[in-house]
Amino acid sequence: MTHDIPGPAIEVLQSKGFEVSLSIRNRPLEKAELLEFVKGADAIISLLSDKIDAAVLDAAGPQLKIVANYAIGFDNIDLEAAKRRDVAVTNTPSQTITDAVAQHTFTLMMALSKKLKNADEFVREGSYHGWDPNLFIGTQLLGKTLGIVGLGRIGSVVARMAVKGMGMKVIYNSSNRKEDFEKYFGARFVTLTDLLSLSDFVTLHVPLTSETHHLIDGSKLELMKRSAFIINTARGAIIEEFDLIKALQEGTIAGAGIDVFENENSVSAALRLADNTILTPHIASATSEAREEMSRIAAENIIAVLSGKNPLNPAFISS
Ligand code: GLV
Repeated sequence: MTHDIPGPAIEVLQSKGFEVSLSIRNRPLEKAELLEFVKGADAIISLLSDKIDAAVLDAAGPQLKIVANYAIGFDNIDLEAAKRRDVAVTNTPSQTITDAVAQHTFTLMMALSKKLKNADEFVREGSYHGWDPNLFIGTQLLGKTLGIVGLGRIGSVVARMAVKGMGMKVIYNSSNRKEDFEKYFGARFVTLTDLLSLSDFVTLHVPLTSETHHLIDGSKLELMKRSAFIINTARGAIIEEFDLIKALQEGTIAGAGIDVFENENSVSAALRLADNTILTPHIASATSEAREEMSRIAAENIIAVLSGKNPLNPAFISS
C-alpha cells in the first residue's frame, strides 16, 4: 500500500493471511521511492496520485498480479502496459462513492449560486453590520439549465438531484444517448457546443483520456453565458486551466467550482487568487462512508485475483 488509507483494507487482507506492507512516508511517493517500494509485491494498492507505468510494473516484478487503484478514476495507470504483463487493474466503483461525488458537485454548485464563500468571509472579517438587501445577491437554481458532460454513474445521479431535488432542467452530452433517461427526467441530448451555450451551470463527469484532455479550453469557455458557472469534480486536465483562469479574470464566465487541478501538487496561484471560485482539495469522494467502501472494494479485488479468480471491478472506460 503506497499510502495509509482510511477503511478496513489492511484488516480485511490480514484476516485472509496476506502480509501487508504500508509505505512509512505519509505522502505521495517520489518515483524512485515508488520503484523501490513495490519490489516483490503480488498486489499493489495505489492512489490516484501514484503514476503506475511500465517501469513501476517491472520494478514490482513478474509475480505482480494486480494493481488495485483506490479511486474510481484510473488515468494514473498505464492499462496497456498492465495488460501486456497480465496484471489486472481494478478501481472502486460503488453507489456510495457515486453519491458522495454527486453530493460534492451539488455542494459546489449551491455554494457558487449563493456566493457562499465570499458571504462567509464577509461575516468573519467583521464587515456585516445589519441587513442590507443588496448584499451577496445570488441566483436561483429552480428552472435553471444544468449541462452535464458525461452521463455515466455520477452524471446520472447529479441529473436526478438537479431535476427531482432542485427543479432544474437538464441537458447532456455523452458518448451514448440514453433515451430512457431522457424520458424519465425530461432531459435533452445536445452537442457539446449547444450544451455550453445553453447552460447556466456546466458540470463535468467524464474520465480523463486522450479525447477528454483539455476538452474545455478557451474556445469552449467562450461559448458559455457570461452568467454561467462551471463545476469540475472529474479530473483537472479536462479543463485547460490557463484558459479557465483567463475566462474567470475577464468575466467570460461567472465562476467555477473546482475540486481537481491540472497540477495537484501545486495549485496555480492565479487560480487561487480568482475571486469567483470555490476551490476544494480533491475531496469529492471524501465521506467516511465512501472511503470505507473504497478500502473494502480494493481489498476484495486483491483477494479475488490472488485467489485465482477474476477481478471484481476491472478498470475499463465506459460511457
Ligand atoms: C477520485 O477522484 C476518484 O477517482 O475516485
